[in-house]
Amino acid sequence: MIGNDIIDLALARKESNWKRKGFLDKLFTPKEQVLISNSQNPETTLWNLWSRKEAAYKIYNRQTQIRAFIPLQLECFDIEEIDGIILGKVICYDTVYYTKTIITSDYIETNAVVNSRDFDNIKTIDTFDMIVKTDGIPNYFDSENKIWKPISKSHHGRFGRVVVLDK
Ligand SMILES: CC(C)(COP(=O)(O)OP(=O)(O)OC[C@H]1O[C@@H](n2cnc3c(N)ncnc32)[C@H](O)[C@@H]1OP(=O)(O)O)[C@@H](O)C(=O)NCCC(=O)NCCS
Repeated sequence: MIGNDIIDLALARKESNWKRKGFLDKLFTPKEQVLISNSQNPETTLWNLWSRKEAAYKIYNRQTQIRAFIPLQLECFDIEEIDGIILGKVICYDTVYYTKTIITSDYIETNAVVNSRDFDNIKTIDTFDMIVKTDGIPNYFDSENKIWKPISKSHHGRFGRVVVLDK
């Protein structure tokens, strides 16, 4: 399974005043707030954590069919940067998801998977006509192999991405 999230940093800056009273308490756990406040760039760290939580949530949503706003039940941990790519984990209730995040000056993009070996199998799709949603959750018809595959979609501002596990 796969989940993704992309954030247009210019739009995020325009849409959200993260310094507003209560904003961080509502969306980030105490441990995540420490990561944000200790960071050299708190704003980027905040959107980095947010995109991980959203990507992991999309898998949780597919697994459970539960739709809920549960930012404090999703917690990022074990974050490490290797060659510009940020790896980490997100726990949601008792399930751990693996995340990989890329940060550029324009956007932050996270892919989440259930098994870290699946990072090697993530592919971007650019044909949109074979996508059908069931209960709001999208799947893609792989016409070559004649099977439906779970995909994840995200769009924000100038950016959009559709990803599938190709295996
Ligand atoms: C549903 C939700 C994840 C959408 O995220 P968003 O940032 O508003 O928008 P995105 O563009 O990233 O995602 C929307 C796309 O996700 C896709 N999507 C929805 N559920 C999905 C799932 N379970 N798996 C994969 N893709 C999914 C939809 O197809 C949609 O694309 P479409 O409108 O083109 O069909 C979000 O609104 C939400 O409800 N979050 C609650 C979880 C939470 O607590 N988050 C807090 C983080 S701090």
